[in-house]
Amino acid sequence: RNASHELKTPITAISGFTKTLLSGAMDDKKSLVEFLKIIDQQSDQLASLVQDVLTISHIQNGTNYVYKPLALHDFVNSELKSYDSMLANNHLTIHNQISEHVEVNTDTTILTRILRNLVSNAIKYNQPNGEITISYDDNDSYWQLIVSDTGIGIAQKDISRLFERFYRADDSRTKQKVSGTGLGLSIVKEMVDAIGGTIHVKSQRGVGSTFTVEFPLVDEDSQTDSENQ
Ligand SMILES: Nc1ncnc2c1ncn2[C@@H]1O[C@H](COP(=O)(O)OP(=O)(O)OP(=O)(O)O)[C@@H](O)[C@H]1O
Ligand SMILES: [Mg+2]
Repeated sequence: RNASHELKTPITAISGFTKTLLSGAMDDKKSLVEFLKIIDQQSDQLASLVQDVLTISHIQNGTNYVYKPLALHDFVNSELKSYDSMLANNHLTIHNQISEHVEVNTDTTILTRILRNLVSNAIKYNQPNGEITISYDDNDSYWQLIVSDTGIGIAQKDISRLFERFYRADDSRTKQKVSGTGLGLSIVKEMVDAIGGTIHVKSQRGVGSTFTVEFPLVDEDSQTDSENQ
């Protein structure tokens, strides 16, 4: 697929709908509200896309990952606050099942990007009155962040391609239910690889999906230089 085409889509939509409004459509209240909603949605899309692209180039340019101890339960709770209205609008409930004493050594920037991408997918591809659960597990060599949803699920044929750039499953693309660029998970994968972790998906159509990210355990205060530094 053509990457620059995908990147231009939100800009084209914002510019097109704005021009249509300015050349008269704004006099009709219904079109005004409808088009502004599209512009708003496409701007959010673009902002998150730009952020992701910046994150990728940051990673590729050889950033030092700075590992600091983080109280995971509180961190997840504070991240989830920004989704409150989105959750309410979609009649979704989210559960933070991470126990309060869990502390991980992690690069907060990377963890934030990973969590946001997975949670936004769990919201977008959920069903009315659905649930999202965030949990934690660990063993001697890694810790896991698990984001589970009761959403539309992913067909077997799509699972192996989910992490490709711009790949979107038929269900979400053709039914046009939710907007997206198909970049989110490719960026998650890139970040997970960069820090030496792994990501797995388990899913059943109509039942839900579980994304498990495994982070290698690192010593407190340790830092990892990327190869090109
Ligand atoms: N939790 C989920 N439940 C069902 N399908 C999912 C889920 N997460 C991802 N998918 C499917 O995988 C595709 C790729 O996800 P990805 O996050 O990379 O892109 P996106 O959500 O479409 O766009 P973006 O994240 O860039 O806004 C989605 O289009 C959707 O078809
Ligand atoms: Mg996404």
